[in-house]
Amino acid sequence: MKSRIKNFLKNNKKCAVDMATYLSFAIVVTLFATIIADLTYQPKLLKKRGYEIEISADGKPVIKKEEKPVILEELMKIADVEKGAKIFKKCASCHNVGKGEGSKVGPALYGVVGRAKGSYAGFSYSDGLKAMGGIWDRESINQFITKPKDYISGTKMAFAGLKKPQDRANVILYLEQQSK
Ligand code: HEC
Repeated sequence: MKSRIKNFLKNNKKCAVDMATYLSFAIVVTLFATIIADLTYQPKLLKKRGYEIEISADGKPVIKKEEKPVILEELMKIADVEKGAKIFKKCASCHNVGKGEGSKVGPALYGVVGRAKGSYAGFSYSDGLKAMGGIWDRESINQFITKPKDYISGTKMAFAGLKKPQDRANVILYLEQQSK
């Protein structure tokens, strides 16, 4: 083995010298690159370390809550009409929604989105609802069914409300689809 290498070197002396030159050149270049990289790269250190905690006047830390406003139109984009149909079962004990179906305990809801508030012929609305004016759009229905008695004081709609924003969007979509 050794003699083979010796032979090779003997026969290829020039080649071996060239290889050694290239190799040392490569090492020198790498070294330079490392040194330059070290010099130019200076990590930015944080001036202050850790979290900032705000202290209120009474000495207690202020906890900042991230409050995201729930935007109805965003929920409407992902609303699911079949889920809305299931939720409507809660309303169905008092409301019809089909075309030509009349009032029950509550007024008929066919076409309610876009209809004037308290306007279904023959239904005896509460004074509070009668006094409201305006039309039922997505946003006002959303507010009403969140907590009916907060939206219309003295409402006849004896319903606690739907807490989940997405449930409300789903049922509003269902009302719209049923009214087509
Ligand atoms: C316990 C019975 C009851 C339930 C349950 C109920 N409602 Fe009503 N709803 C009523 C009554 C009664 C009124 C009339 C309110 C008034 O006059 O103040 C009404 C009014 C409304 C109106 C206004 C209609 C108009 O013509 O102005 C809408 C919209 C409505 N309800 C939607 C719903 C939806 C959606 C649900 C289910 C999430 C629901 N309601 C559940 C009884 C009910």
